[in-house]
Amino acid sequence: MSTLVIVAHPDINNSTVNKAWRDELSQHEELVTVHEIYPEYPHGQIDIEKEQKLLEAHDHIIFQYPLYWYSCPPLLKQYLDEVFTHGWAYGSQGNALKGKQIGLAISIGSVPEAYTSEGNVQFTIDELVSPMIATTRFVKANYVGAHKLYSAFTVTPSQLAENTQTYLEFIKQI
Ligand SMILES: Cc1cc2nc3c(=O)[nH]c(=O)nc-3n(C[C@H](O)[C@H](O)[C@H](O)COP(=O)(O)O)c2cc1C
Repeated sequence: MSTLVIVAHPDINNSTVNKAWRDELSQHEELVTVHEIYPEYPHGQIDIEKEQKLLEAHDHIIFQYPLYWYSCPPLLKQYLDEVFTHGWAYGSQGNALKGKQIGLAISIGSVPEAYTSEGNVQFTIDELVSPMIATTRFVKANYVGAHKLYSAFTVTPSQLAENTQTYLEFIKQI
């Protein structure tokens, strides 16, 4: 079964990292279903039923996004608010995501040293994504970790290509 990769980038045409990731993943249709929510919902009107059916059809799900203010872009937050509904994702009747494998793929502008207890940010990325981890636990899914790319502004083409292959391996082993 293929992995559903939900891409949430507000400006993918001017992206370096998420565009490269998306373009490579799109070459592996046997492995990955790429679903880009910003082009799908340019006016923010999310088709909740369609999204729930898509999630139901995949046991492995990745949320891919650039780190924006130590969080995710707003449409992904809206997606979680609207698609992970009571009676579907949680509550006594809500088991749609139970047992699924859910992970993250995040591009990060700053250098890795910033994301340590001694660095500028003083939080690791794994600490900053704790709301995502808690959400997956709340819907009884298994959190499988985050693929990361730091220093997005200065990444070289060869570093990006190598990181993209690591992302593919991450998807294969979840
Ligand atoms: C609105 C906004 C907020 C951002 N916030 C952060 C941040 O909190 N931490 C960080 O390291 N980079 C931050 N960045 C940099 C982005 O993470 C970086 O540009 C992105 O990951 C690069 O991916 P892309 O090439 O796919 O656009 C921010 C960028 C924008 C536009």
